[in-house]
Amino acid sequence: MDRAGKRRMSTLFSKSTSLRKGVKITDQEFVDLRDFIYDKSGIYVDEKRKYLFESRFSRRLGQLGLTSFSDYVKYLKVDRGQELQRVFELVTTNETSFCRDTKQLDSFRDNLLREILDRQRKAGRLELNIWSAGCSSGEEPYTLVFLLLETLKAEIARWKISITAVDLSEEMIDKARAGIYSEYAFKTTPDEIRKRYFKPVEGGWELDPRIRKLVNFQPLNLNDALAVKRVPRSHIVFCRNVIIYFDDAMKRKVVQAFYDNLLPGGYLLVGHSESLHKISQSFRPVLNAGAIAYKKEE
Ligand SMILES: C[S@@+](CC[C@H](N)C(=O)[O-])C[C@H]1O[C@@H](n2cnc3c(N)ncnc32)[C@H](O)[C@@H]1O
Repeated sequence: MDRAGKRRMSTLFSKSTSLRKGVKITDQEFVDLRDFIYDKSGIYVDEKRKYLFESRFSRRLGQLGLTSFSDYVKYLKVDRGQELQRVFELVTTNETSFCRDTKQLDSFRDNLLREILDRQRKAGRLELNIWSAGCSSGEEPYTLVFLLLETLKAEIARWKISITAVDLSEEMIDKARAGIYSEYAFKTTPDEIRKRYFKPVEGGWELDPRIRKLVNFQPLNLNDALAVKRVPRSHIVFCRNVIIYFDDAMKRKVVQAFYDNLLPGGYLLVGHSESLHKISQSFRPVLNAGAIAYKKEE
């Protein structure tokens, strides 16, 4: 290669590496941003995931014309609200899908759901309150509607059912309300569910509006004790694949809030890789068909 060619190659190489690198974060900047995020949301980012801030925030820093993370932290401290919400959007992991973890859901439908429905029927109170905490784009609470329809069939018309679904991410709440999903959302979903409840539209699959109106979506920060107290008392709380992002102190705080929210005899369900071991002694762990749930005693 001639000298001009080599120069062209080296310019190209240095450009692509600088693009790839984005804004670097120092150890102190990482701690400052990590602590700020923890303080506001309870989300704790481990040192090992320092790269996550660089990859997720560099673009935003560029948009704001900032060249260092310390300037960004200063900006966050004076900004009231809007930028904080952007941080929440950037820092949350919203991975989800319809019918995620079928083993746990089948066990829930065949055991806990039936138990609670029978108890309510015996008491003459055809009411059921469910809270999906950390619902992301809605696949989890909508899956719960599918399970209820499957279980109650025509009887559902006589029940007063309330499903409250909350998330820190306003973008996810908007997506959940819109009810339009891409192929990805169905990766754990039997085909008949899609056929029964969705119709193809431009950009994906639209959920039947009759199902959509059964879920009440709200942006809510689980770190906000007052907002959490306003959630209606529940028979069932789903909080799956959310507390993995919290440290033990925040896990204890939210699990206690779920305990306080649950009606006696109610159940808390967490993700299959999560456990309340060393977090709470208040619940009784109940094992059904290989799936654990946590019961608040009657
Ligand atoms: C991995 S998703 C889990 C979604 C769904 N529960 C599931 O299992 O498929 C975790 C969700 O928790 C939400 N989250 C994280 N911290 C939160 C907080 N402090 N308050 C409310 N939601 C939070 C995130 O925005 C994200 O959508």
